[in-house]
Amino acid sequence: ADDEGRAAFDALIAADGRIEPRDWMPEDYRKTLIRQVSQHAHSEIIGMQPEANWITRAPSLKRKAILMAKVQDEAGHGLYLYSAAETLGATRDEMVEALIEGKAKYSSIFNYPTRSWADVGAIGWLVDGAAIANQVPLCRASYAPYGRAMVRICKEESFHQRQGFEILLTLANGTPEQKAMAQDAVNRFYAPALMMFGPPDDASPNSKQSMAWHIKRFSNDDLRQRFVGMIVEQVKVLGLTLPDPELRYDEETKQWIHKELDWVEFMDVIKGKGPCNAQRLERRRVAHEDGAWVREAAAEYARKQQLKLAE
Ligand code: ACO
Repeated sequence: ADDEGRAAFDALIAADGRIEPRDWMPEDYRKTLIRQVSQHAHSEIIGMQPEANWITRAPSLKRKAILMAKVQDEAGHGLYLYSAAETLGATRDEMVEALIEGKAKYSSIFNYPTRSWADVGAIGWLVDGAAIANQVPLCRASYAPYGRAMVRICKEESFHQRQGFEILLTLANGTPEQKAMAQDAVNRFYAPALMMFGPPDDASPNSKQSMAWHIKRFSNDDLRQRFVGMIVEQVKVLGLTLPDPELRYDEETKQWIHKELDWVEFMDVIKGKGPCNAQRLERRRVAHEDGAWVREAAAEYARKQQLKLAE
């Protein structure tokens, strides 16, 4: 039966079809997806923290309402993604435990501090912009529940990116101090945002197989290239600059040549040694413990409903 299953799976992938939860799939395909989708979910949940840091200090009621809605959207994204990972057989408890014990990865970017209000703008523009560049192709991921979750997530991310851009645009057109604050935020988030796409292709152990399975549609470097091409134009509208004086487009190779990224720093951050890793995990652990009564109450309610149905 495994042979038949494999043949059907291979044929479906070759025809660019979609795999549903009950279809036969190779164990490695399932594992890769659980890895990527759960890491993605964790990133959404941990990603709430750097911005939540500014909710109480947003400069107006309107900005506060928008930021609260945005942070709430990220929680929603985490939940769709945990659900998508559950369809592969991972349990929510296992995934959450791996995160709070520091065993699971989540995006490097969320281990950098948010020092000023302008950082909320830079996150929206650069971080959510990079997330969109990475995630639009994931809407076509071969694993159907992941692709479906991505469609809605990308729509919401587009709104997030615009709100970030608008914050930076307002600051860039404000007082000299406000403009400097916007530039400082862009300076600090530029390189970490480029690193979100993952290691260079020749140092990306998972890419080849994930692309063959149509989980990933483009390599890490290809997506990074696309993103650089986008922000190069957008930064002009902001009247700001990218902290990369040597950045240029090479007509011959049709590639953006950007500055060398610090891959030692990247590896440190993903190994838990970034500026905010410890703080992010501690917050998540405490929030999880504080939420225990909600989970218990929900489980108890479900149990009583079951008993009623059985009567
Ligand atoms: N932050 C943390 N870890 C990373 C990052 C990053 N920016 N980039 C790569 N890694 C990890 C990979 O998870 C992998 O580790 P693992 O094998 O232990 O899982 C290792 O570095 C090597 O990288 P790759 O072989 O390139 O891994 P992969 O093929 O999974 O590609 C990528 C990495 C591009 C991040 C991919 O997993 C992906 O597209 N994920 C979905 C998008 C996502 O997670 N976005 C979250 C941030 S944005 C947001 O949504 C708010």
